[in-house]
Amino acid sequence: MDKKILVFPCGSEIGLEINNALKFVKGVTLIGGSSVDDHGKYVYKNYIDGFPNIEDDQFINFLNEIISERNIDYIFPAHDSVVLKLAQHQDKIAAEVLTSPKETCEICRSKKKTYEYFEGKDFNPTMYNSLDDVDTYPVFLKPDVGQGSKGVALASNQAEALQHLQRDNDLLVLEYLPGKEYTIDCFTDRHGQLRFSGMRERRRVKSGISVNSHTIPLDATVKKMAHSINDAMVFRGMWFFQVKEDQHGHFKLLEIAPRIAGTMNLFRNQGVNFPLLTLFDRMNFEVDIIQNNYKLEVDRAFTNRFKVDLEYDRVYIDFDDTITLGEKVNPYVMMFIYQCLSQDKELILITKHIHDIKETLKALKIDESIFNEIIHITKTDMKHTYFSTDKKSIFIDDSYNERKQIVQAHGFPVFDIDAIESLIDWRN
Ligand SMILES: Nc1ncnc2c1ncn2[C@@H]1O[C@H](COP(=O)(O)OP(=O)(O)O)[C@@H](O)[C@H]1O
Ligand SMILES: [Mg+2]
Repeated sequence: MDKKILVFPCGSEIGLEINNALKFVKGVTLIGGSSVDDHGKYVYKNYIDGFPNIEDDQFINFLNEIISERNIDYIFPAHDSVVLKLAQHQDKIAAEVLTSPKETCEICRSKKKTYEYFEGKDFNPTMYNSLDDVDTYPVFLKPDVGQGSKGVALASNQAEALQHLQRDNDLLVLEYLPGKEYTIDCFTDRHGQLRFSGMRERRRVKSGISVNSHTIPLDATVKKMAHSINDAMVFRGMWFFQVKEDQHGHFKLLEIAPRIAGTMNLFRNQGVNFPLLTLFDRMNFEVDIIQNNYKLEVDRAFTNRFKVDLEYDRVYIDFDDTITLGEKVNPYVMMFIYQCLSQDKELILITKHIHDIKETLKALKIDESIFNEIIHITKTDMKHTYFSTDKKSIFIDDSYNERKQIVQAHGFPVFDIDAIESLIDWRN
């Protein structure tokens, strides 16, 4: 298998999750595309910027040029509007778009169309055509076409609701659902069979993204709802829907989306890799799913990725309290060490260890061949006198004094272990 997949826009939470899900898959090459510089650049090793906005007339042409230049087989849309745009133009796009058919995407992109489509179903929330029809307040207002909870409002009386509608007359007026909120992640294969549905509670939400979520057993009525949605619309691959409890504790539909959700990472870590299942299904493989049977919770926050303007060919690294953490090995430092090995950088261990260093390395199961050289010196030795200056080098040591000496003697960049973070290349 040798498949090239373009993820666009690659820096959205969705794009980042697709990277996490597919980066280590053998035979898959990921290419991230973006119109604006964002986090995608720090995550996608193959990165193409300068895409026009999807509303631009040139977008499809630009996309097709990239597809032919890079031999792209599939495109994973990673934003609600991009899902719709690419689905609508699939016949003009020279690669397969990994989403559901256009008709499904069109209904899902509009909450109004979604609720109209399911009119009469008991899971549909009440949608008021005008404020005159409202019998109880509060009501919930949200844009017909929206994402990330942008532009939503709660109105506790008619005057408030009017105010919001004057600001934006595209707002839908809905019954207010006060209860808990859940997402159900689903996978439908090419035969239309709903092969997986997993329920998670959205416990904490930030900027419209669930930042704390945990798996819960699939509720029987929600399961029926998943099947009834799957029977009513044509899905292909991953999709999800959101529900919220009304005042009686009944689940009501918020939205349906035929795309990856960032927090599908929860089920991925139980074995259900939605982007991969979607790809395999698209390649006409019969997929099989193993889900590990334990509860899982995810909590998300901003992460740091760095771009360091620094070149080096050799790393001098200390041992005690640098490579070791207490009596054991610091696994994060080993991650950096193995990155150096894969980038063919020279590693020199320089240590004042009080025992036989080779014995200690062996006891800690660190192979001494990792290091090009082991410089074992005594307490009174000065580390800087053992450094060569024939290569661009950096120095990693938890001791401030040692670092200071190296800077003074050689001017090499020096790092405490907390700053190794910036030396890791996370791109895949
Ligand atoms: N009828 C409603 N009553 C109460 N809260 C709602 C209602 N509809 C949506 N919400 C809240 O607004 C958020 C965004 O609504 P949703 O339909 O998921 O649109 P999107 O995620 O596309 O912005 C939901 O996560 C939920 O917290
Ligand atoms: Mg939502």
